[in-house]
Amino acid sequence: MVKVGIVGGTGYTGVELLRLLAQHPQAEVAVITSRSEAGLAVADMYPNLRGHYDGLAFSVPDAKTLAACDVVFFATPHGVAHALAGELLAAGTKVIDLSADFRLQDSDEWAKWYGQPHGAPELLKDAVYGLPEVNREQIRQARLIAVPGCYPTATQLGFLPLLEAGIADASRLIADCKSGVSGAGRGAAVGSLFCEAGESMKAYAVKGHRHLPEITQGLRRAAGGDVGLTFVPHLTPMIRGIHSTLYATVADRSVDLQALFEKRYANEPFVDVMPAGSHPETRSVRGANVCRIAVHRPQDGDLVVVLSVIDNLVKGASGQAVQNLNILFGLDERMGLSHAGLLP
Ligand SMILES: NC(=O)c1ccc[n+]([C@@H]2O[C@H](COP(=O)([O-])OP(=O)(O)OC[C@H]3O[C@@H](n4cnc5c(N)ncnc54)[C@H](OP(=O)(O)O)[C@@H]3O)[C@@H](O)[C@H]2O)c1
Repeated sequence: MVKVGIVGGTGYTGVELLRLLAQHPQAEVAVITSRSEAGLAVADMYPNLRGHYDGLAFSVPDAKTLAACDVVFFATPHGVAHALAGELLAAGTKVIDLSADFRLQDSDEWAKWYGQPHGAPELLKDAVYGLPEVNREQIRQARLIAVPGCYPTATQLGFLPLLEAGIADASRLIADCKSGVSGAGRGAAVGSLFCEAGESMKAYAVKGHRHLPEITQGLRRAAGGDVGLTFVPHLTPMIRGIHSTLYATVADRSVDLQALFEKRYANEPFVDVMPAGSHPETRSVRGANVCRIAVHRPQDGDLVVVLSVIDNLVKGASGQAVQNLNILFGLDERMGLSHAGLLP
């Protein structure tokens, strides 16, 4: 049994970790933290978990208690893992961070986008970007995993086959992305209110979103050089889901794009390349650790359209984090993650 700690257990990614780990045969949650709900039983806060975590209550984060775990997940705002990860790693505890703290390899770039100095630049050399479809071997050896963000997961998985094959014009990529409201977390905010987000849709952060440097970093690796990306996120009135509509120019019309995508993801348990002509729906991945992709070349032109959907809380966060745990501890990568999406 892998002994698990979770920092930030009352947020949406925290409770999603609890839901997924409740079905995991080789993981046991020993510590779960919340500063605001310390002392409250987990099932009293989240009745869907009644019967799964009897006796487990939220506690104030304490490095010593957390260090007694084999692995600690951080499901916290940025900056929290910076402060605690070093002490845990020194004690031999592995760290899987769902926040952005260790996703960017350049600490100055991180400081620029997050508006504060990087809190643990000395740990960046140990951090592995936890996208298994790219870094599976490095994840196996890692002790600090940076779980990718939700937009970055859907967007990178959609662009990778085109960029790795070197067939797309990497200087003019467009990612037009939609997110459900749970992407903003559980904290009270006017923009997340039912009456503000319901029956409406809007773009935001067109000038520059924090996920832009993360996506660009991954696409640069795939392309083997600089990329030019326009990334426009939108808020949509759904609870879960990311829908990325991706555009790239592929001048060579002779490339069999369907075959390219199917081959790239043939051995990936959590990427589903749909049949040619498909339109993946976010509801098909709700609750499931799956990225569902379709590739199109409208009117046989040179502009290729890739549709990529995930559940922001599963393949976009907690499911991908559990996938990383499985790889890290030599378990079957699908363990605890093989359930189908919730539909309707
Ligand atoms: N929501 C998504 O779809 C999504 C997807 C991918 C990645 N992420 C990332 O995952 C992280 C968590 O997101 P979320 O949506 O679950 O957030 P959330 O709903 O706002 O929850 C945040 C959690 O962190 C705890 N926390 C806040 N400040 C803390 C501190 N200084 N020290 C210790 N604990 C603290 C909170 O509990 P207390 O305040 O009671 O301690 C709460 O349990 C974020 O970095 C987010 O960017 C989110």
